[in-house]
Amino acid sequence: MPQIPTPLQIAGSLATFHPDLRLIGPDALAGRHPGEHEDNLGAGVVAQPASTAAVMALIDWCRQNGVSIVPQGGLSGLVGGGVSDAGQVILTSIRLNRIIAVHLEEETVEVEAGVTLEALQAALAPHGLTTGIDLGSRGSATIGGMVSTNAGGILAFRNGVMRHQILGLEAVLPSGALFSDMTRVVKVSAGPDLKQLFIGGEGAFGFVTKVVMKVEPLRPHRAVALLGVADAGRALQVAARLRRHGALVLEAAEMMWPRYLRDHAALKGFDLSWLEDDAAVLLVEISAQSADHATTLLEDELAAIWDEADIKGAIFAQSSEQARRFWDLREDSGFYFSAFPQAPSFDVSLPPTLVDGYVVEITSRLRSIGIGYDAYIYGHIADGNLHIALATPGPLPSDTKQLVEDAVYHGITACGGSFSAEHGVGLDKRQAYLAHADPGKQALARQLKSLLDPDGLFNPGKVPF
Ligand code: LAC
Ligand code: ZN
Repeated sequence: MPQIPTPLQIAGSLATFHPDLRLIGPDALAGRHPGEHEDNLGAGVVAQPASTAAVMALIDWCRQNGVSIVPQGGLSGLVGGGVSDAGQVILTSIRLNRIIAVHLEEETVEVEAGVTLEALQAALAPHGLTTGIDLGSRGSATIGGMVSTNAGGILAFRNGVMRHQILGLEAVLPSGALFSDMTRVVKVSAGPDLKQLFIGGEGAFGFVTKVVMKVEPLRPHRAVALLGVADAGRALQVAARLRRHGALVLEAAEMMWPRYLRDHAALKGFDLSWLEDDAAVLLVEISAQSADHATTLLEDELAAIWDEADIKGAIFAQSSEQARRFWDLREDSGFYFSAFPQAPSFDVSLPPTLVDGYVVEITSRLRSIGIGYDAYIYGHIADGNLHIALATPGPLPSDTKQLVEDAVYHGITACGGSFSAEHGVGLDKRQAYLAHADPGKQALARQLKSLLDPDGLFNPGKVPF
Protein backbone atom coordinates (compact mmCIF):
# COMPACT_ATOMS: atom_id res chain seq x y z
CA MET A 1 0.00 0.00 0.00
CA PRO A 2 1.52 3.37 -0.98
CA GLN A 3 1.96 6.02 1.72
CA ILE A 4 -1.18 8.07 2.41
CA PRO A 5 -0.73 11.56 0.94
CA THR A 6 -1.50 14.74 2.87
CA PRO A 7 -4.56 16.90 2.02
CA LEU A 8 -2.31 19.35 0.16
CA GLN A 9 -0.67 16.58 -1.87
CA ILE A 10 -4.07 15.10 -2.73
CA ALA A 11 -5.41 18.50 -3.74
CA GLY A 12 -2.30 19.10 -5.86
CA SER A 13 -2.50 15.74 -7.63
CA LEU A 14 -6.18 16.15 -8.43
CA ALA A 15 -6.16 19.85 -9.31
CA THR A 16 -6.20 19.38 -13.08
CA PHE A 17 -7.02 15.72 -13.03
CA HIS A 18 -10.24 15.61 -15.05
CA PRO A 19 -12.15 18.34 -16.91
CA ASP A 20 -15.36 17.50 -15.01
CA LEU A 21 -13.73 17.48 -11.59
CA ARG A 22 -13.44 20.58 -9.44
CA LEU A 23 -11.18 20.35 -6.43
CA ILE A 24 -11.51 22.36 -3.23
CA GLY A 25 -8.35 22.21 -1.14
CA PRO A 26 -7.64 22.88 2.55
CA ASP A 27 -7.17 26.65 2.16
CA ALA A 28 -10.42 27.21 0.32
CA LEU A 29 -12.25 24.99 2.81
CA ALA A 30 -11.09 26.90 5.88
CA GLY A 31 -14.07 28.60 7.48
CA ARG A 32 -16.68 26.73 5.43
CA HIS A 33 -19.73 25.56 7.34
CA PRO A 34 -19.34 21.82 7.88
CA GLY A 35 -23.07 21.08 8.04
CA GLU A 36 -24.65 19.00 10.80
CA HIS A 37 -21.37 17.50 12.07
CA GLU A 38 -18.36 19.63 12.91
CA ASP A 39 -15.92 17.02 11.51
CA ASN A 40 -17.56 16.59 8.11
CA LEU A 41 -14.82 18.56 6.35
CA GLY A 42 -11.92 17.01 8.32
CA ALA A 43 -10.35 15.56 5.15
CA GLY A 44 -9.57 19.07 3.93
CA VAL A 45 -10.08 18.04 0.29
CA VAL A 46 -13.40 17.98 -1.51
CA ALA A 47 -13.77 16.51 -5.00
CA GLN A 48 -16.78 17.89 -6.87
CA PRO A 49 -17.38 15.85 -10.02
CA ALA A 50 -19.91 17.03 -12.57
CA SER A 51 -20.20 13.72 -14.46
CA THR A 52 -20.23 10.01 -13.81
CA ALA A 53 -17.03 9.72 -15.85
CA ALA A 54 -15.27 12.06 -13.43
CA VAL A 55 -16.52 10.00 -10.47
CA MET A 56 -15.15 6.84 -12.08
CA ALA A 57 -11.78 8.46 -12.79
CA LEU A 58 -11.52 9.82 -9.26
CA ILE A 59 -12.35 6.47 -7.68
CA ASP A 60 -9.74 4.83 -9.89
CA TRP A 61 -7.14 7.32 -8.72
CA CYS A 62 -8.10 6.80 -5.07
CA ARG A 63 -7.80 3.03 -5.42
CA GLN A 64 -4.40 3.27 -7.05
CA ASN A 65 -3.17 5.64 -4.37
CA GLY A 66 -4.75 3.90 -1.38
CA VAL A 67 -6.81 6.98 -0.51
CA SER A 68 -10.19 6.30 1.04
CA ILE A 69 -13.34 8.16 0.05
CA VAL A 70 -16.06 9.77 2.16
CA PRO A 71 -19.20 10.37 0.13
CA GLN A 72 -21.23 13.46 0.98
CA GLY A 73 -24.44 15.10 -0.16
CA GLY A 74 -26.11 18.07 1.55
CA LEU A 75 -24.28 17.61 4.90
CA SER A 76 -27.59 17.33 6.74
CA GLY A 77 -26.94 13.80 8.04
CA LEU A 78 -27.54 13.45 11.77
CA VAL A 79 -25.40 10.41 12.66
CA GLY A 80 -21.93 11.43 11.45
CA GLY A 81 -22.02 9.31 8.27
CA GLY A 82 -20.16 12.08 6.40
CA VAL A 83 -17.37 12.65 8.93
CA SER A 84 -13.95 12.69 7.26
CA ASP A 85 -10.31 12.80 8.28
CA ALA A 86 -6.97 13.99 6.85
CA GLY A 87 -5.70 11.55 4.23
CA GLN A 88 -9.19 10.92 2.83
CA VAL A 89 -11.00 12.53 -0.09
CA ILE A 90 -14.52 13.86 0.27
CA LEU A 91 -16.53 12.97 -2.81
CA THR A 92 -19.56 15.22 -2.99
CA SER A 93 -22.53 14.96 -5.31
CA ILE A 94 -23.19 18.68 -5.11
CA ARG A 95 -22.39 19.40 -8.80
CA LEU A 96 -24.24 16.33 -10.02
CA ASN A 97 -27.34 18.45 -9.83
CA ARG A 98 -29.21 18.04 -13.10
CA ILE A 99 -32.82 17.04 -13.38
CA ILE A 100 -32.39 14.82 -16.42
CA ALA A 101 -36.00 14.12 -17.36
CA VAL A 102 -39.52 14.42 -16.01
CA HIS A 103 -41.83 11.75 -17.44
CA LEU A 104 -45.16 13.43 -16.88
CA GLU A 105 -47.59 10.64 -17.74
CA GLU A 106 -45.45 7.99 -16.10
CA GLU A 107 -45.02 10.07 -12.92
CA THR A 108 -41.32 9.35 -12.74
CA VAL A 109 -38.26 11.55 -12.79
CA GLU A 110 -34.59 10.93 -13.62
CA VAL A 111 -32.20 12.99 -11.52
CA GLU A 112 -28.57 13.22 -10.64
CA ALA A 113 -27.70 12.47 -7.04
CA GLY A 114 -26.84 16.00 -5.93
CA VAL A 115 -30.25 17.54 -6.63
CA THR A 116 -31.75 18.72 -3.36
CA LEU A 117 -35.20 17.52 -2.39
CA GLU A 118 -36.47 21.11 -2.44
CA ALA A 119 -35.01 21.79 -5.91
CA LEU A 120 -36.73 18.67 -7.21
CA GLN A 121 -40.03 19.67 -5.60
CA ALA A 122 -39.72 23.15 -7.15
CA ALA A 123 -39.00 21.70 -10.60
CA LEU A 124 -41.96 19.32 -10.38
CA ALA A 125 -44.51 21.83 -9.06
CA PRO A 126 -45.21 23.59 -12.41
CA HIS A 127 -46.12 20.17 -13.82
CA GLY A 128 -48.61 19.56 -11.00
CA LEU A 129 -46.32 16.94 -9.49
CA THR A 130 -44.27 16.53 -6.32
CA THR A 131 -42.07 14.00 -4.59
CA GLY A 132 -43.66 11.13 -2.68
CA ILE A 133 -41.20 11.77 0.13
CA ASP A 134 -40.75 14.93 2.15
CA LEU A 135 -38.69 15.90 5.17
CA GLY A 136 -37.69 18.92 7.23
CA SER A 137 -34.17 19.25 5.79
CA ARG A 138 -35.54 19.42 2.22
CA GLY A 139 -33.51 22.58 1.49
CA SER A 140 -30.14 20.86 1.92
CA ALA A 141 -30.76 17.09 1.77
CA THR A 142 -29.75 15.66 -1.59
CA ILE A 143 -31.46 12.78 -3.34
CA GLY A 144 -28.18 10.82 -3.22
CA GLY A 145 -27.83 11.36 0.53
CA MET A 146 -31.46 10.38 1.02
CA VAL A 147 -30.82 7.19 -0.95
CA SER A 148 -27.72 6.40 1.10
CA THR A 149 -29.54 6.71 4.42
CA ASN A 150 -32.85 5.37 3.11
CA ALA A 151 -34.50 8.56 4.38
CA GLY A 152 -38.08 8.49 5.63
CA GLY A 153 -39.79 11.72 6.71
CA ILE A 154 -43.36 12.90 6.80
CA LEU A 155 -45.03 10.85 4.07
CA ALA A 156 -43.58 7.45 4.95
CA PHE A 157 -46.82 6.28 6.59
CA ARG A 158 -48.48 6.52 3.18
CA ASN A 159 -45.75 6.10 0.57
CA GLY A 160 -43.03 4.19 2.36
CA VAL A 161 -39.45 5.42 2.58
CA MET A 162 -36.78 6.29 0.00
CA ARG A 163 -36.38 2.63 -0.90
CA HIS A 164 -39.97 2.58 -2.10
CA GLN A 165 -39.54 5.68 -4.24
CA ILE A 166 -36.57 4.46 -6.24
CA LEU A 167 -37.15 2.58 -9.48
CA GLY A 168 -33.66 2.77 -10.93
CA LEU A 169 -30.20 3.76 -9.85
CA GLU A 170 -26.68 4.25 -11.17
CA ALA A 171 -23.64 3.97 -8.89
CA VAL A 172 -19.88 3.72 -9.20
CA LEU A 173 -18.43 0.76 -7.32
CA PRO A 174 -15.22 0.82 -5.23
CA SER A 175 -13.56 -1.03 -8.13
CA GLY A 176 -14.25 2.01 -10.32
CA ALA A 177 -16.76 -0.01 -12.38
CA LEU A 178 -20.22 1.29 -13.19
CA PHE A 179 -23.39 -0.27 -11.81
CA SER A 180 -26.17 0.93 -14.07
CA ASP A 181 -29.79 -0.04 -13.52
CA MET A 182 -31.81 3.01 -14.60
CA THR A 183 -35.05 1.05 -14.67
CA ARG A 184 -38.12 3.23 -15.23
CA VAL A 185 -40.79 0.69 -14.43
CA VAL A 186 -42.22 -0.68 -11.20
CA LYS A 187 -42.34 -4.25 -12.37
CA VAL A 188 -39.04 -6.07 -12.76
CA SER A 189 -39.04 -9.77 -12.09
CA ALA A 190 -35.52 -10.53 -13.19
CA GLY A 191 -33.52 -11.81 -10.27
CA PRO A 192 -32.53 -10.08 -7.03
CA ASP A 193 -32.77 -6.30 -6.91
CA LEU A 194 -29.10 -5.50 -6.38
CA LYS A 195 -29.55 -1.72 -6.35
CA GLN A 196 -31.08 -2.12 -2.89
CA LEU A 197 -27.53 -2.55 -1.60
CA PHE A 198 -26.88 1.14 -2.24
CA ILE A 199 -30.16 2.28 -0.67
CA GLY A 200 -29.37 2.55 3.02
CA GLY A 201 -25.80 1.44 2.24
CA GLU A 202 -24.41 4.73 3.62
CA GLY A 203 -21.83 5.01 0.85
CA ALA A 204 -20.06 1.80 1.84
CA PHE A 205 -20.86 -0.16 -1.34
CA GLY A 206 -20.76 2.48 -4.03
CA PHE A 207 -21.27 6.15 -4.86
CA VAL A 208 -24.76 6.85 -6.21
CA THR A 209 -24.69 9.15 -9.24
CA LYS A 210 -28.26 9.02 -10.67
CA VAL A 211 -31.68 7.67 -9.82
CA VAL A 212 -35.09 7.16 -11.32
CA MET A 213 -37.72 8.14 -8.77
CA LYS A 214 -41.44 7.92 -8.55
CA VAL A 215 -43.31 11.19 -8.13
CA GLU A 216 -46.96 11.90 -7.41
CA PRO A 217 -49.67 14.48 -8.09
CA LEU A 218 -49.30 17.74 -6.21
CA ARG A 219 -52.32 18.41 -4.03
CA PRO A 220 -52.02 22.12 -3.26
CA HIS A 221 -55.27 22.67 -1.35
CA ARG A 222 -54.38 22.06 2.24
CA ALA A 223 -55.64 22.51 5.78
CA VAL A 224 -53.43 22.25 8.85
CA ALA A 225 -54.41 21.93 12.50
CA LEU A 226 -52.81 21.35 15.86
CA LEU A 227 -54.83 19.10 18.17
CA GLY A 228 -54.41 18.29 21.82
CA VAL A 229 -54.32 14.55 22.41
CA ALA A 230 -53.90 12.46 25.55
CA ASP A 231 -51.51 9.99 23.98
CA ALA A 232 -50.33 8.31 20.78
CA GLY A 233 -53.29 5.92 20.81
CA ARG A 234 -55.66 8.88 20.48
CA ALA A 235 -53.46 10.47 17.83
CA LEU A 236 -53.56 7.26 15.81
CA GLN A 237 -57.34 7.13 16.19
CA VAL A 238 -57.59 10.60 14.65
CA ALA A 239 -55.10 9.77 11.89
CA ALA A 240 -56.90 6.52 11.01
CA ARG A 241 -60.22 8.32 10.79
CA LEU A 242 -58.78 10.97 8.46
CA ARG A 243 -57.07 8.33 6.33
CA ARG A 244 -60.36 6.54 5.77
CA HIS A 245 -62.23 9.67 4.80
CA GLY A 246 -63.15 9.39 1.15
CA ALA A 247 -63.02 13.12 0.30
CA LEU A 248 -59.66 14.11 1.76
CA VAL A 249 -56.10 12.84 1.83
CA LEU A 250 -54.10 12.75 5.05
CA GLU A 251 -50.76 14.43 4.26
CA ALA A 252 -49.13 14.42 7.68
CA ALA A 253 -49.67 13.21 11.24
CA GLU A 254 -46.83 14.40 13.42
CA MET A 255 -46.74 14.27 17.19
CA MET A 256 -45.02 16.29 19.90
CA TRP A 257 -45.01 15.09 23.49
CA PRO A 258 -45.59 17.64 26.30
CA ARG A 259 -42.00 18.48 27.29
CA TYR A 260 -40.92 19.05 23.68
CA LEU A 261 -43.99 21.11 23.03
CA ARG A 262 -43.81 23.21 26.18
CA ASP A 263 -40.12 24.11 25.87
CA HIS A 264 -40.25 24.73 22.13
CA ALA A 265 -43.43 26.84 22.33
CA ALA A 266 -41.90 28.91 25.15
CA LEU A 267 -38.77 29.52 23.06
CA LYS A 268 -40.78 30.54 20.00
CA GLY A 269 -43.40 32.54 21.90
CA PHE A 270 -46.06 30.19 20.54
CA ASP A 271 -49.37 30.48 22.41
CA LEU A 272 -50.60 27.19 23.87
CA SER A 273 -53.52 28.62 25.87
CA TRP A 274 -55.98 26.69 23.65
CA LEU A 275 -54.47 23.40 24.82
CA GLU A 276 -55.46 21.49 27.95
CA ASP A 277 -52.62 21.11 30.44
CA ASP A 278 -50.27 18.18 29.94
CA ALA A 279 -51.73 17.20 26.57
CA ALA A 280 -49.49 16.18 23.71
CA VAL A 281 -50.07 17.73 20.30
CA LEU A 282 -50.84 16.11 16.98
CA LEU A 283 -50.19 18.17 13.85
CA VAL A 284 -52.44 17.06 11.02
CA GLU A 285 -52.36 18.27 7.46
CA ILE A 286 -54.91 17.22 4.87
CA SER A 287 -55.55 18.01 1.23
CA ALA A 288 -58.83 18.25 -0.64
CA GLN A 289 -60.31 19.59 -3.88
CA SER A 290 -60.20 23.24 -2.84
CA ALA A 291 -58.75 25.18 0.07
CA ASP A 292 -62.21 25.99 1.49
CA HIS A 293 -63.26 22.44 1.09
CA ALA A 294 -60.13 21.25 2.91
CA THR A 295 -60.75 23.50 5.93
CA THR A 296 -64.42 22.56 6.19
CA LEU A 297 -63.75 18.85 5.80
CA LEU A 298 -61.07 18.90 8.49
CA GLU A 299 -63.17 20.94 10.92
CA ASP A 300 -66.23 18.74 10.39
CA GLU A 301 -64.34 15.51 10.73
CA LEU A 302 -62.58 16.57 13.90
CA ALA A 303 -65.86 17.78 15.37
CA ALA A 304 -67.35 14.39 14.59
CA ILE A 305 -64.69 12.50 16.54
CA TRP A 306 -63.93 15.15 19.18
CA ASP A 307 -65.42 13.30 22.14
CA GLU A 308 -64.59 9.80 21.01
CA ALA A 309 -60.91 10.72 20.52
CA ASP A 310 -60.92 12.91 23.64
CA ILE A 311 -59.44 15.87 21.74
CA LYS A 312 -58.02 18.41 24.19
CA GLY A 313 -58.20 21.60 22.17
CA ALA A 314 -57.49 22.53 18.55
CA ILE A 315 -56.33 25.42 16.42
CA PHE A 316 -56.62 25.62 12.65
CA ALA A 317 -54.12 27.51 10.51
CA GLN A 318 -55.81 30.56 9.00
CA SER A 319 -53.08 31.29 6.48
CA SER A 320 -50.09 29.62 4.91
CA GLU A 321 -47.85 31.69 7.23
CA GLN A 322 -49.64 30.31 10.24
CA ALA A 323 -49.42 26.80 8.83
CA ARG A 324 -45.66 27.38 8.49
CA ARG A 325 -45.48 28.41 12.16
CA PHE A 326 -47.29 25.20 13.16
CA TRP A 327 -44.79 23.23 11.12
CA ASP A 328 -41.81 25.12 12.55
CA LEU A 329 -42.85 23.98 15.99
CA ARG A 330 -42.46 20.44 14.78
CA GLU A 331 -39.59 20.75 12.27
CA ASP A 332 -37.16 23.14 14.03
CA SER A 333 -36.46 20.31 16.38
CA GLY A 334 -32.79 21.16 16.98
CA PHE A 335 -33.85 23.87 19.50
CA TYR A 336 -32.90 21.65 22.43
CA PHE A 337 -29.27 21.53 21.31
CA SER A 338 -28.86 25.18 22.35
CA ALA A 339 -29.89 24.38 25.91
CA PHE A 340 -28.24 20.96 25.92
CA PRO A 341 -25.28 20.88 23.50
CA GLN A 342 -24.72 17.46 21.96
CA ALA A 343 -27.76 16.11 23.80
CA PRO A 344 -27.82 12.35 23.25
CA SER A 345 -30.49 11.71 20.65
CA PHE A 346 -32.15 8.68 19.15
CA ASP A 347 -34.28 7.79 16.16
CA VAL A 348 -36.27 4.62 16.71
CA SER A 349 -39.32 3.04 15.17
CA LEU A 350 -41.86 0.59 16.48
CA PRO A 351 -45.31 -0.59 15.55
CA PRO A 352 -47.41 2.55 16.12
CA THR A 353 -49.85 0.87 18.50
CA LEU A 354 -46.95 0.04 20.85
CA VAL A 355 -45.73 3.64 21.09
CA ASP A 356 -47.61 4.60 24.27
CA GLY A 357 -46.33 1.60 26.24
CA TYR A 358 -42.81 2.30 24.98
CA VAL A 359 -42.93 5.98 25.94
CA VAL A 360 -44.14 5.17 29.47
CA GLU A 361 -41.42 2.56 29.85
CA ILE A 362 -38.47 4.58 28.58
CA THR A 363 -39.56 7.65 30.53
CA SER A 364 -39.43 5.70 33.75
CA ARG A 365 -36.21 3.86 32.76
CA LEU A 366 -34.49 7.14 31.90
CA ARG A 367 -35.68 8.81 35.10
CA SER A 368 -34.33 5.91 37.14
CA ILE A 369 -30.87 6.65 35.68
CA GLY A 370 -30.81 10.09 37.26
CA ILE A 371 -32.03 13.65 37.36
CA GLY A 372 -31.99 15.29 33.95
CA TYR A 373 -32.60 12.11 32.00
CA ASP A 374 -35.91 13.43 30.93
CA ALA A 375 -36.65 13.12 27.24
CA TYR A 376 -37.86 15.35 24.44
CA ILE A 377 -40.03 13.09 22.30
CA TYR A 378 -41.57 13.90 18.94
CA GLY A 379 -41.93 12.27 15.57
CA HIS A 380 -43.83 10.72 12.75
CA ILE A 381 -46.55 9.01 14.75
CA ALA A 382 -48.44 7.44 11.86
CA ASP A 383 -45.48 5.19 11.05
CA GLY A 384 -44.22 4.78 14.63
CA ASN A 385 -40.97 6.74 14.15
CA LEU A 386 -39.97 8.58 17.32
CA HIS A 387 -37.15 11.06 17.76
CA ILE A 388 -35.93 11.14 21.34
CA ALA A 389 -33.41 13.56 22.83
CA LEU A 390 -32.31 13.75 26.43
CA ALA A 391 -32.63 17.04 28.28
CA THR A 392 -29.00 16.80 29.25
CA PRO A 393 -25.80 17.79 27.47
CA GLY A 394 -23.62 15.17 25.84
CA PRO A 395 -21.47 13.29 25.43
CA LEU A 396 -22.32 11.10 28.40
CA PRO A 397 -19.73 9.16 30.39
CA SER A 398 -19.53 5.70 28.84
CA ASP A 399 -21.23 3.78 31.68
CA THR A 400 -24.17 6.23 31.72
CA LYS A 401 -24.30 6.16 27.92
CA GLN A 402 -24.69 2.41 28.08
CA LEU A 403 -27.51 2.67 30.63
CA VAL A 404 -29.30 5.23 28.47
CA GLU A 405 -28.93 3.11 25.32
CA ASP A 406 -30.17 0.04 27.19
CA ALA A 407 -33.21 2.05 28.28
CA VAL A 408 -34.01 3.45 24.82
CA TYR A 409 -33.35 0.28 22.82
CA HIS A 410 -34.89 -2.16 25.30
CA GLY A 411 -37.25 -4.49 23.42
CA ILE A 412 -37.15 -2.39 20.25
CA THR A 413 -36.11 -5.11 17.81
CA ALA A 414 -38.04 -7.84 19.61
CA CYS A 415 -41.30 -5.92 19.05
CA GLY A 416 -40.63 -5.51 15.34
CA GLY A 417 -39.15 -2.02 15.45
CA SER A 418 -35.73 -0.60 14.66
CA PHE A 419 -32.95 1.10 16.63
CA SER A 420 -32.38 3.32 13.57
CA ALA A 421 -35.51 4.40 11.77
CA GLU A 422 -34.53 7.06 9.23
CA HIS A 423 -31.23 8.74 10.10
CA GLY A 424 -28.88 5.83 9.42
CA VAL A 425 -26.05 4.29 11.43
CA GLY A 426 -23.02 6.45 10.54
CA LEU A 427 -20.62 6.90 13.42
CA ASP A 428 -23.10 7.52 16.20
CA LYS A 429 -25.13 4.33 15.96
CA ARG A 430 -22.25 1.87 15.39
CA GLN A 431 -22.54 0.34 18.85
CA ALA A 432 -26.30 0.07 18.49
CA TYR A 433 -25.83 -1.67 15.12
CA LEU A 434 -23.45 -4.21 16.66
CA ALA A 435 -25.79 -4.78 19.60
CA HIS A 436 -29.14 -4.84 17.83
CA ALA A 437 -28.79 -5.71 14.13
CA ASP A 438 -29.30 -9.41 13.49
CA PRO A 439 -25.90 -11.20 13.66
CA GLY A 440 -26.67 -13.15 10.47
CA LYS A 441 -27.44 -9.92 8.66
CA GLN A 442 -24.26 -8.33 10.00
CA ALA A 443 -22.18 -11.29 8.78
CA LEU A 444 -23.72 -11.20 5.29
CA ALA A 445 -23.24 -7.44 5.05
CA ARG A 446 -19.55 -7.87 5.99
CA GLN A 447 -19.13 -10.54 3.29
CA LEU A 448 -20.71 -8.30 0.68
CA LYS A 449 -18.54 -5.38 1.78
CA SER A 450 -15.35 -7.42 1.47
CA LEU A 451 -16.44 -8.64 -1.94
CA LEU A 452 -17.17 -5.16 -3.30
CA ASP A 453 -14.62 -3.14 -1.38
CA PRO A 454 -11.80 -5.46 -0.25
CA ASP A 455 -9.49 -2.53 0.57
CA GLY A 456 -12.09 -0.67 2.63
CA LEU A 457 -11.90 2.36 0.36
CA PHE A 458 -15.49 3.60 0.74
CA ASN A 459 -16.51 5.41 3.92
CA PRO A 460 -14.38 3.35 6.31
CA GLY A 461 -15.01 3.45 10.06
CA LYS A 462 -18.75 4.09 9.83
CA VAL A 463 -21.34 1.28 9.69
CA PRO A 464 -19.24 -1.68 10.93
CA PHE A 465 -19.38 -3.82 7.77
C1 LAC B 1 -37.26 15.25 11.92
C2 LAC B 1 -35.86 14.79 11.68
C3 LAC B 1 -35.03 14.98 12.92
O1 LAC B 1 -38.17 14.49 11.74
O2 LAC B 1 -35.83 13.46 11.27
O3 LAC B 1 -37.40 16.42 12.31
ZN1 ZN C 1 -37.80 12.59 11.33
